[in-house]
Amino acid sequence: MNCTDCPRLAGFLAGVRGSRPDYHARPVPAFGDPRARLLIVGLAPGMHGANRTGRPFTGDYAGILLYETLHAFGFGSHPVSLAADDDLRLSDCRITNAVKCLPPANKPEPAEIKTCNPYLAGELKASPDVRVILALGLVAHKAVLMALGLRQSALVFGHGVRHPLPDGRVLIDSYHCSRYNTQTRRLTRADFHDVFRKIRDELGAG
Ligand code: URA
Repeated sequence: MNCTDCPRLAGFLAGVRGSRPDYHARPVPAFGDPRARLLIVGLAPGMHGANRTGRPFTGDYAGILLYETLHAFGFGSHPVSLAADDDLRLSDCRITNAVKCLPPANKPEPAEIKTCNPYLAGELKASPDVRVILALGLVAHKAVLMALGLRQSALVFGHGVRHPLPDGRVLIDSYHCSRYNTQTRRLTRADFHDVFRKIRDELGAG
């Protein structure tokens, strides 16, 4: 990926490349099984996580619970994701972000979410096997609706809520597995595992 369509994000990344030449510091592509039935949509790369390693949710706090859970539910070959060149394999699962570039203060602007949305729409179009979309947080939920051409008011975000989609797929919402949400216990490990139990029910044993 080599997009520079969001001037603020492109400028920010150019600065990061200057100060941290060892960082990926470019748009972060999706990771995982191209034939996955589960697509997980996060928010955006974190500075020292995906933005450093080039793999979604890899190298920062948010990825700890996510990859541990993927392993526990049979989607990951290992419980940790360390680096883009480790030997972790996802099966039947793919991970992407609503915004592919690192945003300042982890906060993409509405215009940036919109500008990036065709990439998510393209990923959804190119993944006919996807049966379940897991949106991690409200921004991801809204980005999925936008990518599918659905009205924002059609489906209201709610942790653990299962939304049947007009095309027969299912959208499931969860609070984001961020450090803030897990440390404040807005999202516990048990809550997150409950969400994945629902996903497994949807997909069958695999
Ligand atoms: N890392 C990502 O890739 N996405 C997030 O939403 C958070 C951390």
